[in-house]
Amino acid sequence: MVRDLPKTASVAHAAEGSKLLAPSASRNAGDICAMLTKFAPKTGKALEIASGTGQHCISLATEFADLRWQPTDIDSTRRASIDAYVSDSDLMNLAPALPLDACAPGWSMQHSDQSLIILINLLHLISTHEARTLINEAAMALSPMGRFVIYGPFMRDGVLTSKADVNFHASLIGQDQKIGYKDKNDVLRMLQEAGLSIVETIEMPSNNLALVSEKPRS
Ligand SMILES: C[S@@+](CC[C@H](N)C(=O)[O-])C[C@H]1O[C@@H](n2cnc3c(N)ncnc32)[C@H](O)[C@@H]1O
Repeated sequence: MVRDLPKTASVAHAAEGSKLLAPSASRNAGDICAMLTKFAPKTGKALEIASGTGQHCISLATEFADLRWQPTDIDSTRRASIDAYVSDSDLMNLAPALPLDACAPGWSMQHSDQSLIILINLLHLISTHEARTLINEAAMALSPMGRFVIYGPFMRDGVLTSKADVNFHASLIGQDQKIGYKDKNDVLRMLQEAGLSIVETIEMPSNNLALVSEKPRS
């Protein structure tokens, strides 16, 4: 389901042609790639959920060249932007974007055998029920030993730990009571209930976290 979100939730400016440019993606792509060097599998299929402008998948496919990357997004304007970045690149391991509503049950059947699934900055923009569906589907889409990495802002033990997080969460729930920051522990529990093992929780710049989980060997 596409939500009408506050402007602060997904800032992306028009760039060249269909390309969009998100300042946050320009800022955090390097840190996310650096974090993944420790956790990404070497080979196999990698699925990016909610790819947004497409800036991240260019960095990811460049850095992790032996993974075959599939960007996706629910929104057609974002997919056009992703495709513009993809066609401007000469990356043989990066496919054009596919449409995917990651909160709709059943998508794992079309995206099975993933070695890596990455989700950047979406959980706070969807409801808890939708987050649970997304996590369950991601768990089913992973191959044994496949990894799921969730990056974004979180509450810690029910507490918003910076003024920026307090304001952003308030703007989100002001727009829609069902969305807003999820608590790190609730998300870790959802991952475990979906059958995944927690590998590590990493503190990232700007008070973000990366939650790394893994599907057990079958
Ligand atoms: C805040 S942006 C993050 C984009 C990108 N991951 C980044 O960090 O720059 C949220 C993205 O999620 C996408 N999105 C929203 N709801 C979605 C859903 N149910 N399934 C898949 N993508 C969704 C939006 O179209 C948007 O591109």
